[in-house]
Amino acid sequence: MPIRNESDRWGAVPQLFHWLIVLLILGQGALGLVMVELPKRPSVFAIYNLHKSIGLTILALAVLRLLWRVFDRRPKPLPMPRWQHLGAEIMHWALYVLLFAVPLSGWLFDSATGLRPLFWWGVLRMPSLTGGAAPHLRDLFEELHEMLFWALIALAVLHAAAAIKHHVIDRDDTLRRMLPWGRRASRKSNP
Ligand code: HEM
Ligand code: HEM
Repeated sequence: MPIRNESDRWGAVPQLFHWLIVLLILGQGALGLVMVELPKRPSVFAIYNLHKSIGLTILALAVLRLLWRVFDRRPKPLPMPRWQHLGAEIMHWALYVLLFAVPLSGWLFDSATGLRPLFWWGVLRMPSLTGGAAPHLRDLFEELHEMLFWALIALAVLHAAAAIKHHVIDRDDTLRRMLPWGRRASRKSNP
């Protein structure tokens, strides 16, 4: 499979970004929801650190993914009603915004608590986004982090439902061209 996008398919790198980020978001969301229910013992700090490092990794992947999108051509749109193109475009941009907003709100919350320095995988010291502890912003960022996460999940469910509808009901190539094994032997049904 070519690394870059083709006129009728997503390339290997954009596919890898897409599915890797999907898996990481799901794992990270589950980890976050379980983590906040655990008793606040010192042994739980390691789990918080893991959550923060995975979250920053998702943020870095989102940056790389967006850069790749800027420099690579996009596959040609498939034939479908105009409103569906518009809807998909709005949905994709909303997902990109949330891919940034969710980890950034977590980072802002962590910075506002000002408890201890933030390290990415225990190695790279990350700057505080609030320039030190900001107790008055702590609750706001905590709420925001949780709300934005659920907004991302809600949009991702709609987005996945649309992709499945295209595959099962419209029987077009929308989902197939985002899957590594989805190349058709014949392109007759993909004008
Ligand atoms: C896409 C990436 C991320 C996702 C999907 C995510 C998801 C979540 C979720 C679902 C929770 C539980 C919310 C609740 O029920 O209260 C949570 C909590 C938390 N997240 Fe994230 N998170 C991400 C990135 C980050 C980052 C980058 C940081 C910090 C650098 C971070 C720091 C935290 C902290 C400190 C909590 C605990 C909040 C509390 O104690 O109430 N998260 N996260
Ligand atoms: C956390 C979950 C997800 C996120 C954040 C997400 C995000 C995105 C984004 C931002 C795009 C636009 C790519 C671009 O134009 O550069 C996209 C495309 C796509 N996604 Fe997802 N996605 C998620 C889950 C899923 C799932 C579960 C499916 C399938 C069931 C799916 C199927 C697709 C397909 C088929 C495309 C290509 C659409 C097209 O060619 O117009 N996505 N996704």
